[in-house]
Amino acid sequence: MKHCIISGANRGVGLALVSHYLAEGNWHVHACCRQPEKADALRALVPANLGRITLHTLDVTDQTSVDALAKALDGQPIDLLINNAGIKGSKQQSRDDMDYDAWAETFAVNAMAPLRVTEALLPHLKAAERAKIATISSQMGAICNAGTGQYAYRSSKAAVNKVMSILAQEVAADGLTCILLHPGWVKTDMGGPHAQITPEESAAGIAATIEKATQGDNGGFFKWNGEAHGW
Ligand SMILES: NC(=O)c1ccc[n+]([C@@H]2O[C@H](COP(=O)([O-])OP(=O)(O)OC[C@H]3O[C@@H](n4cnc5c(N)ncnc54)[C@H](OP(=O)(O)O)[C@@H]3O)[C@@H](O)[C@H]2O)c1
Repeated sequence: MKHCIISGANRGVGLALVSHYLAEGNWHVHACCRQPEKADALRALVPANLGRITLHTLDVTDQTSVDALAKALDGQPIDLLINNAGIKGSKQQSRDDMDYDAWAETFAVNAMAPLRVTEALLPHLKAAERAKIATISSQMGAICNAGTGQYAYRSSKAAVNKVMSILAQEVAADGLTCILLHPGWVKTDMGGPHAQITPEESAAGIAATIEKATQGDNGGFFKWNGEAHGW
């Protein structure tokens, strides 16, 4: 049985990823969220998957919480880490109406936390054979994508792209594959009801793209459907 860790697992794309990996049948899913006791949709998956799902408390911005997760998994090799948790940020993120404190918080969640979480779990990832690290970014962080406003969100995703491409180079010698993914425009609380694809479609595409990724793809940026994404 392979082990994967998914952050932001209580709703949206994260919850769909949990369901997807449970349905694949050969994974033990470590589903992480800030308040597992209130995560009704996630908890509903437990009875049918006893012994194949563990819920963990994880606030990705909180070092104590991140360290506690690493400790709880002591000695457990991890085959796949999906850094999925993310926020859109404040409504005030235009040039002339910017909430700078909220921008910093958006950076803490979207750009800094994926490194914080990955670094804490590196011993577990290195202990597995050819483990993978997948970070959910966004097309909105691609410099090649035109678009105005939403400075906080766009810049935080551009930053995580750079962060993970640095990390990819640093972990290559350990046999790890580290990739970035745009999940599509997804019907979630973040994507809204008019988005193009369902969380289930996004999760299936993300999982297939991760599965296909080899060490030759280390440092790559992909769309949910497996196509390469421009930087
Ligand atoms: N939906 C889209 O169209 C779209 C497009 C491009 C990229 N993305 C990216 O895809 C990922 C998933 O998005 P989504 O649409 O599923 O968003 P969502 O429905 O808003 O869910 C976001 C998830 O992140 C969690 N989260 C936020 N801050 C956290 C923290 N500090 N610690 C731990 N968990 C935290 C939330 O937990 P709580 O319930 O506790 O808040 C929730 O589980 C994000 O990285 C997002 O930026 C989404």
